[in-house]
Amino acid sequence: EKGTYNHFMLKEIDEQPFVIRNIIQKYQNENGDIKLEPEIRSAIREADRLYIIAAGTSYHAGLVAKELMEKEAKIPTEVHIASEFLYNEPLLSKKPLFIFISQSGETADCRGVLVNVKKHGFPSLTITNVPGSTLSREADFTLHTYAGPEIAVASTKAYTAQMAVLSILAMDSARAKGIDARFNAMQELGLIANAMEALCDQKDKMEQIARDYMYDTRNCFFIGRALDYHVVLEGALKLKEISYIQAEGFAGGELKHGTIALIEEGTPVVAVVTQPHVNGNIRGNVQEVIARGANACIISTEATEEKGDHIVLPEVHECLTPLVSIIPLQLIAYYAALHRDCDVDKPRNLAKSVTVE
Ligand code: M6R
Repeated sequence: EKGTYNHFMLKEIDEQPFVIRNIIQKYQNENGDIKLEPEIRSAIREADRLYIIAAGTSYHAGLVAKELMEKEAKIPTEVHIASEFLYNEPLLSKKPLFIFISQSGETADCRGVLVNVKKHGFPSLTITNVPGSTLSREADFTLHTYAGPEIAVASTKAYTAQMAVLSILAMDSARAKGIDARFNAMQELGLIANAMEALCDQKDKMEQIARDYMYDTRNCFFIGRALDYHVVLEGALKLKEISYIQAEGFAGGELKHGTIALIEEGTPVVAVVTQPHVNGNIRGNVQEVIARGANACIISTEATEEKGDHIVLPEVHECLTPLVSIIPLQLIAYYAALHRDCDVDKPRNLAKSVTVE
């Protein structure tokens, strides 16, 4: 039930800190160690490469998961859009492990891949919010994201829950190989939950940005680099699916290869800036779009004097910033859709779970 909320989407955005705290509890044993089925640990240990298969928002969580698996656990990882993989299979490694990420566990494109994977006899793991779902029943192993029912078509808490579970999995996989991950997932997730709360308390600011930047625009661009690039893809998907604004996420360095031609006086550009090693580069990109007339909104870990609106994120570990930087993007998308009189929870032409190919 919606309770005091007008829309499930806003309720689900607000639930994210609780979901993250719940995940910490569910994946921890009495000694504070990570709780994971030993069979899942061995499946990961035995794999020479992980193939993450997903669609939409879950695919975006997969992009972040790849970074964590490769950078922390040193396991080669590929991420594929399910509907593409289904009809255009890449060259596979000798001992692949397939990981399906799906809120509903019912996405037909993912199921199509799983059926083929099983025919080949490859092992599979489903990460889902619905443990009894088709993908969960048919895969060898399941990890539950414990986000509670997600009703709004636009996925919010399921996305952050997926990334939280995958960060735990990455840290555990690193430990199993004797590698020290750069972060303690459980501790960091605790800080992330607090950071999410602090951002959810700034709804007035997000609403003002949505009104100023998106009320009557035809398009909106999101830019980021490295991990932030994956987040801007998700931010753009959120905005387009519920507000019908043409929204696209771009890698900052790609602007000059074409996209910057689209920037004109008043074009809204939202930049996410959380990755220290590319901080200067993306800030340079922001200057480039501002010089061509863009209205820039900068979501970053450090307050700066640049022109434009700023949202400053509470500090969390640089490997896990997507769990926090997505909150303003979700809220901005929500208020943009609201002000444009769109059906926030049930956008046109979309279904919550896509059970047809
Ligand atoms: O249930 P799934 O995670 O498999 O769904 C995948 C996509 O259909 C889904 O994430 C979709 O992109 C959302 N509506 C995005 O908000």
